[in-house]
Amino acid sequence: MCGITGFTGKGTALPVLMQGLEKLEYRGYDSAGVTLADDQGLRTFKAKGRLSELRSIVENRELHQHTGIGHTRWATHGVPNNLNAHPHTNSTNTISLVHNGIIENYVSLKQMLENNGYVFQSETDSEAVVHLIDYYYRRFQDMETAFKRAVRDLEGSYGLCVISTYAPDTVFVARKESPMILGISDEGTYCASDAPALLEYTRKLMTLNDGDIAVLKPEHIALFDAKGNEKKEEWMEFPYDLQSAQKGGYDTFMEKEIHEQPQTIRETMRGRIEGKSIVLPELDPILGRILRADHVLWIACGTAYHACVYGQMVLNRLVPINSAAIPASEFRYGNYYVDKNTLCIFVSQSGETADTLAAIKRAKSSGAATIAVANVLGSSLTRIADATVYTCAGLEIAVASTKAYTAQLTLIYLLAQKLAEIMGYSTREHDEIITYLNELDRLTQETIDIAKPVIREYASMLKNEHDVYFIGRQLDYVSAMEGALKLKEISYIHADAYYAGELKHGPIALIQDQTVVIAFATQPEVASKTISNIKETVARGAKIILITDQNTPAEGFTYVIRIPEIRPDLACIISAVIFQFLAYYAASERGCDIDKPRNLAKSVTVE
Ligand code: AGP
Repeated sequence: MCGITGFTGKGTALPVLMQGLEKLEYRGYDSAGVTLADDQGLRTFKAKGRLSELRSIVENRELHQHTGIGHTRWATHGVPNNLNAHPHTNSTNTISLVHNGIIENYVSLKQMLENNGYVFQSETDSEAVVHLIDYYYRRFQDMETAFKRAVRDLEGSYGLCVISTYAPDTVFVARKESPMILGISDEGTYCASDAPALLEYTRKLMTLNDGDIAVLKPEHIALFDAKGNEKKEEWMEFPYDLQSAQKGGYDTFMEKEIHEQPQTIRETMRGRIEGKSIVLPELDPILGRILRADHVLWIACGTAYHACVYGQMVLNRLVPINSAAIPASEFRYGNYYVDKNTLCIFVSQSGETADTLAAIKRAKSSGAATIAVANVLGSSLTRIADATVYTCAGLEIAVASTKAYTAQLTLIYLLAQKLAEIMGYSTREHDEIITYLNELDRLTQETIDIAKPVIREYASMLKNEHDVYFIGRQLDYVSAMEGALKLKEISYIHADAYYAGELKHGPIALIQDQTVVIAFATQPEVASKTISNIKETVARGAKIILITDQNTPAEGFTYVIRIPEIRPDLACIISAVIFQFLAYYAASERGCDIDKPRNLAKSVTVE
C-alpha cells in the first residue's frame, strides 16, 4: 500500500527519500510528498499523482537538509489530493509525520484535539497523530517523550515516521501491524516500509517489531518495546541485491518474474528433497499438534487464497480428514469452528496482509496450531505462526503475483505430502511424486518455451473483449480462478472462473457468438467431462483457448496449448505460466500499466 522512507545522516536526505519512494512505487499510490528538516524549520512538498509530479516540484531547489521523511499515499480516508497527501504537519510547522495504516480511534482523538483548539486541514485519520504529538510536546517539552506518549493513545494499525524542528537530526519511528524496516550505513540511518527502498544504500537491515519504537540518529538507532524498555538491535544482512529489485532487461517486473519461475521453483525445492524423502524440519516444533489435528484450514487472500484451494484439494486426496480453504477476510469474522485440534495454514507472499494477520490471531486465540507459508523473511505472519515454511521466490515487485504463486503451489504440495506422512498416511505413488518434483523446474521452463511462441496471438484475441470465462474441473478450477484474477487485475478485462460442470446451471446463459472461453483440461479423470462442457459452449458460438495435457483428444479446437507430461496433481504449477503470459500480453496490447495496475497495491496492509 502506501510507502514510507526516512533518513538522517551525513548526506543530503532528498535523493535518499526520492529514490526510496521510487523503489516503493510498485506498492501502488495516488499522491506523494516529502518533508525535510533542519534547525531553520521544516519544508514540505506534496503532489497528487505520480512521483514525477513531486520530482518536478523539488528539483532545481536548494534542498540540502540531512534529515527527512517521504511518503507515497494510497487513499483510504479522503480523496487523493494535496491536502490529504502526506506528510502532515502541525499548525506551527514544527512537527511533520507520515503514516501507513488506519488509526481506528481517530474520530475520538480528533474530537479531543478540536476541543483543545486544534484545527484540521485534511480528511485523513493520520493528521490526528501529528496534532496529538504536538499536544504532548506542549506538555512534556521533549520530542521523544511526546512521540512515545502519543503512540500509546493510538488504536488501529500504523507505520509512523516523524521529524521535528525540536530534534532536527532525529527520525522517530513506530509500527503496529504495518511493515517497517530499519537500515544503517556509514552515511546514516534509514527507515522504509519495504526493503527495496533501502537496498541502494545498505543491506544491513532489521525489521522493527510490532509495537516497538525506534529513534533514528545519524550514527545509531535506539529501540524501545511497547513498555518503553530499551532493546538491542538485531541487524541482518539482506539476502537480495538491488539487481534482483530491478528489471534485468525485461520491460516490466511482471515479465521478469514470470520468466524467473523455473529458478524460483528450484529454489523453493532446494534442500527439501533428500533422496526419496521430503524434509521440512521447520515443522518439528509442532509435530505432536499436527498428529492430533482432526481438520485443516487453509487461509489467505487473493492469489494466496487460490494456492490454499490447491492445498485443500491436494490434502483431501491424501488424508481422510476435512480440509477447507477460506479467504482470510471471511475467516476473521466468520463462524468457522476452530479449536486445539485444528491445524490452520496461512499463505502469504508479503506476510503483512492485514486480513491474514487478523485471521492468524483469531486462530491462535482459539487454540489452533498455525503454520505460515510466507515469502518475506521475518515478516509479521512468520513471527506469529507456530511454524514457518518459506517459499524462496525472492523479491516479487510486480503487483500481480506470479513467481510467488507457483512457489506457494510447490511448497504447499510438499507440505501436503509431509502432513500426510506425519499423520500416518502413505501413498503408493511416492516414488513417482519425487521423480516429478525433481523435474518441476525443467518442466516449467519447457512450458514457457511451448507457450511463448503462440501466446501473443492468443492474447490478441482478448484485446477487445469485455468478458472472458475461465473454466476447469477439480485442480483445473484452481487454474481457472487464478487465470481470471490475473487477467482482470492487469488488463481490466472482466473475467470470471467457473467449475466446468456448473456452466449449464447458469453461466452458460452468458455465452454468445465469439465469447472467449479459456478452458483447462489437464486432469485425466475428468478431462472428457470438461471437453463435453467446452463443446456445449462451442455450440453457443464460444471461441476456445484450451490448455490441456498430452493425451486428451482435442480435435476441432484451433487454439490449443499442451503442457508437458507431468503428474496431474502437479499440472497446475506448470500451467500457471500460460495464463500469466496470456494476461500479460493482453494487458500489454491494451497499453496497461502492468506492474502497477490501477487501484491495487502489492501488500494490502489495511483491512
Ligand atoms: C495477486 O496478484 C494480488 N497481488 C493479490 O491477490 C495478493 O495475492 C493478495 O493481496 C495477498 O497478498 P499476500 O500474498 O502478500 O498476503
